[in-house]
Amino acid sequence: MIWVIGNKGMLGSEVCRQLEEKKYNWVGTDREVDITSMDALEGFAESVETNAYFPSKISHKDRKITWIINCSAYTNVEKAEEETELAAKLNEDGPRNIARVARKIGAKLIHISTDYVFGGNGSQPYNEDDAKNPLGVYGKTKLAGEVAIQKEMNTYYIVRTAWLYGFDGKNFVYTMTKVMNSHDQIKVVDDQKGTPTCAPDLADSLLKFIEKNEGAKSLIGKHSAPAYGIYHFTNGGETNWHDFACEIYRLGKKYGRITGECVVNACSTEEYGAKVERPAYSVLSKDKIIKELKIKIPEWQVSLEKFIKNERFNPL
Ligand SMILES: NC(=O)c1ccc[n+]([C@@H]2O[C@H](COP(=O)([O-])OP(=O)(O)OC[C@H]3O[C@@H](n4cnc5c(N)ncnc54)[C@H](OP(=O)(O)O)[C@@H]3O)[C@@H](O)[C@H]2O)c1
Repeated sequence: MIWVIGNKGMLGSEVCRQLEEKKYNWVGTDREVDITSMDALEGFAESVETNAYFPSKISHKDRKITWIINCSAYTNVEKAEEETELAAKLNEDGPRNIARVARKIGAKLIHISTDYVFGGNGSQPYNEDDAKNPLGVYGKTKLAGEVAIQKEMNTYYIVRTAWLYGFDGKNFVYTMTKVMNSHDQIKVVDDQKGTPTCAPDLADSLLKFIEKNEGAKSLIGKHSAPAYGIYHFTNGGETNWHDFACEIYRLGKKYGRITGECVVNACSTEEYGAKVERPAYSVLSKDKIIKELKIKIPEWQVSLEKFIKNERFNPL
């Protein structure tokens, strides 16, 4: 049984969709099982593993939680600067609690983290163990969450991602589509470099960790499971927010998502006047995940086009 925590969020809902499609045995929870409460997490795990949660047609063996995928988090980068305590509760205490429960019930953990653990003054894609230097509360609390998990257990995969967009949730692609439909001029910063990540691609790679582990069990000696630890996943290539916005505009026009004319102007971060300092360069190296999972990662433009033309695209 796979337990997806944060199943109503942008990434969590995509993970659940793919689990359903691949006919996995899974269960999802969101705020109703509060990650800041050990009692709530333990109580839920127990209700799944005993007969309480599922009808008795699910066998005892299938009710055993073997994996937890944690997609819950405090994700509002700007608000985190004011709601410091809440951000720490969700991004540090929550993952620690989840790791404790995972260890107790013998489940492996997949947890999601962020490029914002880095300071952003590099010029080469960040490797997993490069020096961290988070600039704001969000990045600091996410880094603390990584550390908390590492202290609690060994059987974890922490996957850092960046610039995430998906079908079910607020994100840059949807926001741009909306403002490009309602404004004839917009300004987007061009001095922060990174790589967008399409949630279906990330979700697919998360499930590969499970597939490779389960496959390794049945093919002992021939294949090995990916090493536990920290990984990076984004789409391929790199860009800046302005060029990303220009591509959204081009593809939005091509697929009829953007109907009016809009000029996408570039500006500096300083000129834009954002409240929170963000990394100027946060491109992540995917060498490790490509090697360990033996995957090919689509370039960001390819995934963006698939996303915009998909019938699930719905920025309302
Ligand atoms: N979005 C990005 O650009 C981005 C970039 C890099 C990394 N990440 C990481 O990727 C992961 C997924 O992000 P996302 O954008 O999919 O997040 P999201 O849409 O904000 O989903 C998080 C989910 O967690 C739920 N939640 C909040 N408090 C909770 C609690 N106490 N107990 C249980 N669930 C709770 C949220 O509910 P409410 O909606 O009701 O609060 C929401 O459904 C996160 O770890 C995030 O840090 C995201």
